Amino acid sequence: MEPTTPESGPGDELRVVHDHADRLFSWRYERERPQLVTLYNKAAASQWNSVTDLDWRIEVDPERVIDDEVPALRLARRAAALPGSPMAHFGEREFTELGVELFKAQLSQFMHGEQGAMMTAAKLVETVPWIDAKYYAATQTMDEARHTEVFARYLHEKIGDPYPMGPYLQAQIFGLLEDSRWDIAYLGMQIIIESLALAAFGDLLRRTSEPLLQKLLRYVMSDEARHVAFGIVSLTEFYRGLTSAELKERQEFLADNTLRNRLRTLTPEVWERMGLRVEQVLPNLMEAAAQPGAAGTGPFQTFQRAFFAKMVPNVRKLGLLDANDGYLRQRWGEAGLLEFEFAEDTASDYEAYDAVAADRATG
Ligand SMILES: [Fe+2]
Ligand SMILES: [Fe+2]
Repeated sequence: MEPTTPESGPGDELRVVHDHADRLFSWRYERERPQLVTLYNKAAASQWNSVTDLDWRIEVDPERVIDDEVPALRLARRAAALPGSPMAHFGEREFTELGVELFKAQLSQFMHGEQGAMMTAAKLVETVPWIDAKYYAATQTMDEARHTEVFARYLHEKIGDPYPMGPYLQAQIFGLLEDSRWDIAYLGMQIIIESLALAAFGDLLRRTSEPLLQKLLRYVMSDEARHVAFGIVSLTEFYRGLTSAELKERQEFLADNTLRNRLRTLTPEVWERMGLRVEQVLPNLMEAAAQPGAAGTGPFQTFQRAFFAKMVPNVRKLGLLDANDGYLRQRWGEAGLLEFEFAEDTASDYEAYDAVAADRATG
Protein backbone atom coordinates (compact mmCIF):
# COMPACT_ATOMS: atom_id res chain seq x y z
CA MET A 1 0.00 0.00 0.00
CA GLU A 2 1.18 3.53 -0.80
CA PRO A 3 2.12 5.46 2.32
CA THR A 4 -0.02 8.55 2.77
CA THR A 5 1.50 11.89 3.70
CA PRO A 6 -1.21 14.40 4.50
CA GLU A 7 -0.28 18.01 3.66
CA SER A 8 -2.12 19.54 6.60
CA GLY A 9 -5.48 19.69 8.31
CA PRO A 10 -6.95 19.18 11.76
CA GLY A 11 -5.97 15.95 13.41
CA ASP A 12 -3.19 15.19 10.94
CA GLU A 13 0.06 14.12 12.50
CA LEU A 14 2.33 15.17 9.66
CA ARG A 15 2.85 18.28 7.62
CA VAL A 16 4.74 18.12 4.31
CA VAL A 17 7.08 21.01 3.49
CA HIS A 18 8.80 21.21 0.10
CA ASP A 19 12.35 22.55 0.16
CA HIS A 20 13.60 24.37 -2.95
CA ALA A 21 17.26 24.60 -1.93
CA ASP A 22 20.06 22.54 -3.48
CA ARG A 23 21.88 20.05 -1.28
CA LEU A 24 25.62 20.59 -1.52
CA PHE A 25 28.12 17.79 -1.04
CA SER A 26 31.57 19.26 -0.32
CA TRP A 27 34.92 17.71 -1.27
CA ARG A 28 36.88 20.29 0.73
CA TYR A 29 37.58 18.81 4.15
CA GLU A 30 40.22 21.36 5.21
CA ARG A 31 39.31 23.20 8.39
CA GLU A 32 39.43 26.74 7.00
CA ARG A 33 37.21 28.71 9.37
CA PRO A 34 38.78 28.88 12.84
CA GLN A 35 35.82 30.66 14.48
CA LEU A 36 33.49 27.87 13.35
CA VAL A 37 35.99 25.24 14.52
CA THR A 38 36.03 26.90 17.97
CA LEU A 39 32.22 26.95 18.10
CA TYR A 40 32.01 23.32 17.02
CA ASN A 41 34.46 22.23 19.74
CA LYS A 42 32.55 24.23 22.35
CA ALA A 43 29.29 22.64 21.21
CA ALA A 44 30.77 19.17 21.52
CA ALA A 45 32.09 19.95 25.02
CA SER A 46 28.84 21.53 26.28
CA GLN A 47 26.41 18.80 25.26
CA TRP A 48 24.08 17.96 28.12
CA ASN A 49 21.66 15.13 28.72
CA SER A 50 18.00 15.74 29.51
CA VAL A 51 17.72 12.54 31.54
CA THR A 52 20.81 12.87 33.77
CA ASP A 53 21.19 16.68 33.99
CA LEU A 54 17.58 17.54 34.87
CA ASP A 55 15.63 16.31 37.89
CA TRP A 56 12.24 15.28 36.54
CA ARG A 57 11.05 14.18 40.02
CA ILE A 58 10.48 17.84 40.95
CA GLU A 59 6.74 18.47 41.36
CA VAL A 60 5.28 21.42 39.52
CA ASP A 61 2.06 23.32 40.21
CA PRO A 62 1.00 24.90 36.88
CA GLU A 63 -0.71 27.79 38.72
CA ARG A 64 2.50 28.72 40.54
CA VAL A 65 5.19 28.40 37.91
CA ILE A 66 5.20 32.11 37.10
CA ASP A 67 6.00 34.29 40.13
CA ASP A 68 4.48 37.59 39.10
CA GLU A 69 1.75 38.34 36.61
CA VAL A 70 2.83 38.01 32.99
CA PRO A 71 2.34 41.12 30.82
CA ALA A 72 -0.20 39.30 28.62
CA LEU A 73 -2.38 38.66 31.66
CA ARG A 74 -1.99 42.23 32.91
CA LEU A 75 -3.15 43.42 29.50
CA ALA A 76 -6.14 41.04 29.60
CA ARG A 77 -7.16 42.55 32.97
CA ARG A 78 -6.98 46.06 31.52
CA ALA A 79 -8.95 44.93 28.48
CA ALA A 80 -11.62 43.27 30.64
CA ALA A 81 -12.23 46.60 32.39
CA LEU A 82 -13.02 48.40 29.11
CA PRO A 83 -16.69 48.98 28.22
CA GLY A 84 -18.17 46.14 26.16
CA SER A 85 -15.24 43.78 26.77
CA PRO A 86 -15.92 40.11 25.92
CA MET A 87 -13.99 39.37 29.15
CA ALA A 88 -16.26 41.55 31.31
CA HIS A 89 -17.62 38.49 33.16
CA PHE A 90 -14.13 37.22 34.18
CA GLY A 91 -13.46 36.76 37.88
CA GLU A 92 -10.24 35.64 39.63
CA ARG A 93 -10.89 32.01 38.72
CA GLU A 94 -11.05 32.84 35.00
CA PHE A 95 -7.93 35.01 35.14
CA THR A 96 -6.01 32.23 36.91
CA GLU A 97 -7.15 29.77 34.27
CA LEU A 98 -6.22 32.22 31.53
CA GLY A 99 -2.75 32.61 33.09
CA VAL A 100 -2.17 28.84 33.02
CA GLU A 101 -3.47 28.56 29.43
CA LEU A 102 -1.28 31.44 28.24
CA PHE A 103 1.74 29.78 29.83
CA LYS A 104 0.87 26.45 28.24
CA ALA A 105 0.44 28.16 24.87
CA GLN A 106 3.83 29.83 25.23
CA LEU A 107 5.58 26.56 26.09
CA SER A 108 3.76 24.87 23.19
CA GLN A 109 5.10 27.47 20.73
CA PHE A 110 8.58 26.97 22.21
CA MET A 111 8.26 23.23 21.59
CA HIS A 112 7.07 23.64 18.00
CA GLY A 113 9.68 26.33 17.37
CA GLU A 114 12.39 23.99 18.64
CA GLN A 115 11.30 21.32 16.18
CA GLY A 116 11.45 24.00 13.49
CA ALA A 117 14.98 24.86 14.63
CA MET A 118 15.97 21.19 14.44
CA MET A 119 14.62 20.98 10.88
CA THR A 120 16.32 24.25 9.88
CA ALA A 121 19.67 23.20 11.36
CA ALA A 122 19.36 19.90 9.46
CA LYS A 123 18.65 21.88 6.28
CA LEU A 124 21.83 23.86 6.88
CA VAL A 125 23.84 20.64 7.19
CA GLU A 126 22.66 19.83 3.67
CA THR A 127 22.74 23.23 1.99
CA VAL A 128 25.61 25.31 3.41
CA PRO A 129 28.73 25.04 1.18
CA TRP A 130 31.41 25.02 3.94
CA ILE A 131 32.44 21.84 5.76
CA ASP A 132 33.04 23.66 9.09
CA ALA A 133 29.49 25.05 8.95
CA LYS A 134 28.05 21.62 8.10
CA TYR A 135 29.81 20.17 11.16
CA TYR A 136 28.55 22.93 13.39
CA ALA A 137 24.97 22.69 12.07
CA ALA A 138 25.07 18.95 12.84
CA THR A 139 25.77 19.73 16.54
CA GLN A 140 22.98 22.29 16.47
CA THR A 141 20.59 19.69 15.08
CA MET A 142 21.33 17.55 18.15
CA ASP A 143 20.93 20.55 20.49
CA GLU A 144 17.52 21.33 18.97
CA ALA A 145 16.40 17.70 19.29
CA ARG A 146 17.17 17.98 23.02
CA HIS A 147 15.31 21.29 23.28
CA THR A 148 12.23 19.89 21.54
CA GLU A 149 12.37 16.84 23.77
CA VAL A 150 12.63 18.77 27.07
CA PHE A 151 9.81 21.21 26.28
CA ALA A 152 7.60 18.31 25.13
CA ARG A 153 8.35 16.37 28.32
CA TYR A 154 7.85 19.39 30.59
CA LEU A 155 4.47 20.06 28.99
CA HIS A 156 3.39 16.43 29.04
CA GLU A 157 4.48 15.59 32.60
CA LYS A 158 4.05 18.91 34.40
CA ILE A 159 1.64 21.28 32.65
CA GLY A 160 -0.85 19.58 30.31
CA ASP A 161 -1.74 18.95 26.69
CA PRO A 162 0.08 21.24 24.25
CA TYR A 163 -1.58 23.66 21.87
CA PRO A 164 -1.04 23.37 18.10
CA MET A 165 1.66 25.41 16.38
CA GLY A 166 0.34 28.94 15.82
CA PRO A 167 -0.26 30.07 12.22
CA TYR A 168 2.27 32.92 12.46
CA LEU A 169 5.10 30.64 13.65
CA GLN A 170 4.16 28.08 11.00
CA ALA A 171 4.34 30.66 8.22
CA GLN A 172 7.69 31.91 9.48
CA ILE A 173 9.39 28.55 9.88
CA PHE A 174 7.91 26.78 6.85
CA GLY A 175 9.02 29.79 4.78
CA LEU A 176 12.62 29.19 5.88
CA LEU A 177 12.42 25.49 5.15
CA GLU A 178 11.07 26.12 1.64
CA ASP A 179 13.44 28.91 0.60
CA SER A 180 15.98 28.19 -2.15
CA ARG A 181 18.60 30.50 -0.56
CA TRP A 182 20.50 28.74 2.25
CA ASP A 183 21.48 31.98 3.94
CA ILE A 184 17.80 32.87 4.46
CA ALA A 185 17.47 29.79 6.66
CA TYR A 186 20.30 31.23 8.78
CA LEU A 187 18.94 34.76 8.76
CA GLY A 188 15.44 33.69 9.74
CA MET A 189 16.46 31.08 12.30
CA GLN A 190 19.86 31.93 13.81
CA ILE A 191 19.49 35.71 13.64
CA ILE A 192 15.75 36.40 14.09
CA ILE A 193 14.05 33.42 15.74
CA GLU A 194 16.95 32.49 18.00
CA SER A 195 17.51 36.10 19.13
CA LEU A 196 13.78 36.08 19.87
CA ALA A 197 14.10 32.76 21.70
CA LEU A 198 17.00 34.05 23.83
CA ALA A 199 14.90 37.07 24.82
CA ALA A 200 11.78 34.96 25.51
CA PHE A 201 13.63 32.29 27.52
CA GLY A 202 15.49 35.00 29.47
CA ASP A 203 12.19 36.74 30.22
CA LEU A 204 10.60 33.50 31.46
CA LEU A 205 13.70 32.67 33.50
CA ARG A 206 13.41 36.00 35.34
CA ARG A 207 9.74 35.29 36.12
CA THR A 208 9.99 31.79 37.52
CA SER A 209 11.50 30.25 40.63
CA GLU A 210 10.41 26.73 39.64
CA PRO A 211 13.75 24.88 39.81
CA LEU A 212 13.21 22.37 36.99
CA LEU A 213 12.14 25.03 34.50
CA GLN A 214 14.96 27.31 35.66
CA LYS A 215 17.66 24.77 34.95
CA LEU A 216 16.04 23.65 31.72
CA LEU A 217 15.97 27.26 30.48
CA ARG A 218 19.55 28.00 31.55
CA TYR A 219 20.78 24.96 29.65
CA VAL A 220 18.70 25.67 26.56
CA MET A 221 19.91 29.28 26.55
CA SER A 222 23.57 28.24 26.71
CA ASP A 223 23.00 26.33 23.45
CA GLU A 224 20.93 29.10 21.84
CA ALA A 225 23.59 31.76 22.36
CA ARG A 226 26.07 29.56 20.51
CA HIS A 227 23.57 29.09 17.68
CA VAL A 228 23.17 32.83 17.23
CA ALA A 229 26.98 33.20 17.24
CA PHE A 230 27.13 30.53 14.51
CA GLY A 231 24.73 32.57 12.39
CA ILE A 232 26.67 35.79 12.85
CA VAL A 233 30.06 34.25 12.07
CA SER A 234 28.76 32.47 8.93
CA LEU A 235 26.70 35.31 7.51
CA THR A 236 29.32 38.01 8.15
CA GLU A 237 31.59 36.15 5.75
CA PHE A 238 28.89 35.36 3.19
CA TYR A 239 27.39 38.85 3.07
CA ARG A 240 30.75 40.44 2.31
CA GLY A 241 30.48 38.76 -1.12
CA LEU A 242 26.90 39.79 -2.04
CA THR A 243 25.84 42.64 -4.35
CA SER A 244 23.85 45.65 -3.12
CA ALA A 245 20.69 44.23 -4.70
CA GLU A 246 21.18 40.89 -2.94
CA LEU A 247 21.83 42.64 0.37
CA LYS A 248 18.68 44.72 -0.12
CA GLU A 249 16.62 41.50 -0.32
CA ARG A 250 18.07 40.43 3.03
CA GLN A 251 17.40 43.84 4.57
CA GLU A 252 13.80 43.72 3.40
CA PHE A 253 13.45 40.22 4.80
CA LEU A 254 14.64 41.48 8.19
CA ALA A 255 12.35 44.52 8.14
CA ASP A 256 9.32 42.42 7.11
CA ASN A 257 9.97 39.82 9.77
CA THR A 258 10.70 42.10 12.71
CA LEU A 259 8.29 45.02 12.43
CA ARG A 260 5.03 43.08 12.52
CA ASN A 261 2.71 43.47 15.45
CA ARG A 262 3.44 40.58 17.77
CA LEU A 263 -0.21 40.41 18.84
CA ARG A 264 -0.47 38.18 15.79
CA THR A 265 1.30 35.50 17.79
CA LEU A 266 -1.78 34.99 19.99
CA THR A 267 -2.92 31.38 20.08
CA PRO A 268 -6.60 31.33 19.03
CA GLU A 269 -7.23 28.05 20.89
CA VAL A 270 -6.45 29.68 24.27
CA TRP A 271 -9.42 31.98 23.82
CA GLU A 272 -11.62 29.16 22.58
CA ARG A 273 -10.85 27.29 25.78
CA MET A 274 -11.96 30.39 27.69
CA GLY A 275 -15.24 30.35 25.72
CA LEU A 276 -14.29 33.28 23.45
CA ARG A 277 -13.15 33.80 19.88
CA VAL A 278 -9.82 35.47 19.16
CA GLU A 279 -11.53 37.85 16.69
CA GLN A 280 -13.63 39.15 19.60
CA VAL A 281 -10.71 39.48 21.97
CA LEU A 282 -8.05 40.94 19.68
CA PRO A 283 -9.65 44.40 19.14
CA ASN A 284 -10.32 44.58 22.88
CA LEU A 285 -6.65 43.78 23.69
CA MET A 286 -5.40 46.24 21.04
CA GLU A 287 -7.61 48.95 22.51
CA ALA A 288 -6.23 48.24 26.00
CA ALA A 289 -2.64 48.29 24.71
CA ALA A 290 -3.22 51.63 22.95
CA GLN A 291 -4.57 53.39 26.06
CA PRO A 292 -2.52 56.18 27.60
CA GLY A 293 -0.63 54.80 30.57
CA ALA A 294 -0.47 51.32 29.04
CA ALA A 295 3.11 51.82 27.89
CA GLY A 296 5.21 48.95 29.18
CA THR A 297 2.15 46.81 29.85
CA GLY A 298 1.72 45.71 26.23
CA PRO A 299 1.94 41.94 26.01
CA PHE A 300 5.35 41.82 24.46
CA GLN A 301 6.94 45.13 25.26
CA THR A 302 9.60 44.25 27.83
CA PHE A 303 10.34 41.14 25.95
CA GLN A 304 10.36 43.03 22.62
CA ARG A 305 13.02 45.35 24.03
CA ALA A 306 15.13 42.36 25.04
CA PHE A 307 14.66 40.93 21.55
CA PHE A 308 15.87 44.03 19.74
CA ALA A 309 18.69 44.52 22.24
CA LYS A 310 20.02 41.24 20.77
CA MET A 311 18.90 41.63 17.17
CA VAL A 312 20.12 45.11 16.33
CA PRO A 313 23.81 44.67 17.30
CA ASN A 314 23.82 41.23 15.66
CA VAL A 315 22.51 42.64 12.39
CA ARG A 316 24.91 45.58 12.57
CA LYS A 317 27.74 43.06 12.79
CA LEU A 318 26.48 41.44 9.56
CA GLY A 319 26.78 44.80 7.79
CA LEU A 320 23.05 44.85 7.05
CA LEU A 321 22.22 47.95 9.07
CA ASP A 322 24.14 50.30 6.80
CA ALA A 323 24.13 48.58 3.38
CA ASN A 324 22.14 50.36 0.64
CA ASP A 325 22.46 53.82 2.20
CA GLY A 326 21.27 52.61 5.58
CA TYR A 327 17.94 51.20 4.38
CA LEU A 328 17.46 49.07 7.49
CA ARG A 329 18.91 51.75 9.78
CA GLN A 330 16.10 53.97 8.56
CA ARG A 331 13.31 51.37 8.89
CA TRP A 332 14.37 50.36 12.41
CA GLY A 333 15.15 53.96 13.33
CA GLU A 334 11.56 54.95 12.55
CA ALA A 335 10.45 52.20 14.94
CA GLY A 336 12.78 53.57 17.67
CA LEU A 337 15.06 50.54 17.76
CA LEU A 338 18.51 52.01 17.21
CA GLU A 339 19.21 52.66 20.88
CA PHE A 340 20.49 49.07 20.95
CA GLU A 341 22.93 49.50 18.10
CA PHE A 342 26.07 49.29 20.24
CA ALA A 343 24.93 46.67 22.73
CA GLU A 344 27.12 43.56 22.88
CA ASP A 345 26.52 41.24 19.93
CA THR A 346 26.04 37.52 20.53
CA ALA A 347 29.17 36.49 18.61
CA SER A 348 31.09 38.37 21.34
CA ASP A 349 29.13 37.43 24.45
CA TYR A 350 27.84 33.89 23.82
CA GLU A 351 30.22 32.32 26.32
CA ALA A 352 28.57 34.32 29.12
CA TYR A 353 25.49 32.12 28.57
CA ASP A 354 27.28 28.81 29.00
CA ALA A 355 25.54 27.61 32.17
CA VAL A 356 26.48 24.02 31.34
CA ALA A 357 30.22 24.76 31.45
CA ALA A 358 29.74 26.94 34.56
CA ASP A 359 27.89 24.17 36.44
CA ARG A 360 30.53 21.61 35.50
CA ALA A 361 33.35 23.92 36.61
CA THR A 362 31.80 24.20 40.08
CA GLY A 363 31.09 20.45 40.18
FE1 LIG B 1 16.70 25.54 20.51
FE1 LIG C 1 18.77 27.03 18.69
